[in-house]
Amino acid sequence: MTVAVGVLSSGSGTNLQALLDADLGPARIARVIVNVPGAKAIDRARGADVPVRVIDHKEQPSRAAFDAEVVRQLRADGVQWVAFAGFMRLVTPAFLDAFPGRVVNIHPSLLPAFPGVDAQRQAFEAGVCITGCTVHLVDAGMDSGPILAQTAVPVLDGDDVHALRGRILAAEHDLFPRVLRALAEGRLQLDGRRARFKGLDAPDVRLCSMEGAR
Ligand code: GRF
Repeated sequence: MTVAVGVLSSGSGTNLQALLDADLGPARIARVIVNVPGAKAIDRARGADVPVRVIDHKEQPSRAAFDAEVVRQLRADGVQWVAFAGFMRLVTPAFLDAFPGRVVNIHPSLLPAFPGVDAQRQAFEAGVCITGCTVHLVDAGMDSGPILAQTAVPVLDGDDVHALRGRILAAEHDLFPRVLRALAEGRLQLDGRRARFKGLDAPDVRLCSMEGAR
């Protein structure tokens, strides 16, 4: 039984590439949608022979119209889960209603710390010792949905924002495919905002890891 996944991206698409390269178990990337013409994510999808469509949000009359067109395409592809892989837009409640509890996002900080844009720089300038990345369910807020998984990433002496960004991105590329596979395998158990994953041969676990501790 395969689980069709739609991936939305807006830019370089390195998280998309990590998903394309990974063994996602029953999950199959059925469609990639990119909202920025010319974004590298488009080439990454084509390179993996995954159907890709550019829906330029600037050509849509409204946010609601853009979301409706994206939902139409994802439904046509039979998508059951939606993964935001560097997708830089907030979606409307109508989008979330189309895929209730089935939209996930990856964010480059340990939410709820440092939501919004350039989370890596926010953490660096806040002087934290530990930051990281988070995979969460998308709700109507910004980076505010239930947390599914996190990886902690240290801020090292001598780091600049660029170095930290790269270290977090590497952790993202490891975490996101693992979470998407577990979701496709139906292993998520959500109790309010607390997520557990039924282990294959282990008790229910939280998907939390430390950079380099995998
Ligand atoms: C990633 O850091 C992701 O967490 C954030 O935007 C960045 C996108 O990178 N949402 P890419 O497009 O996946 O390379």
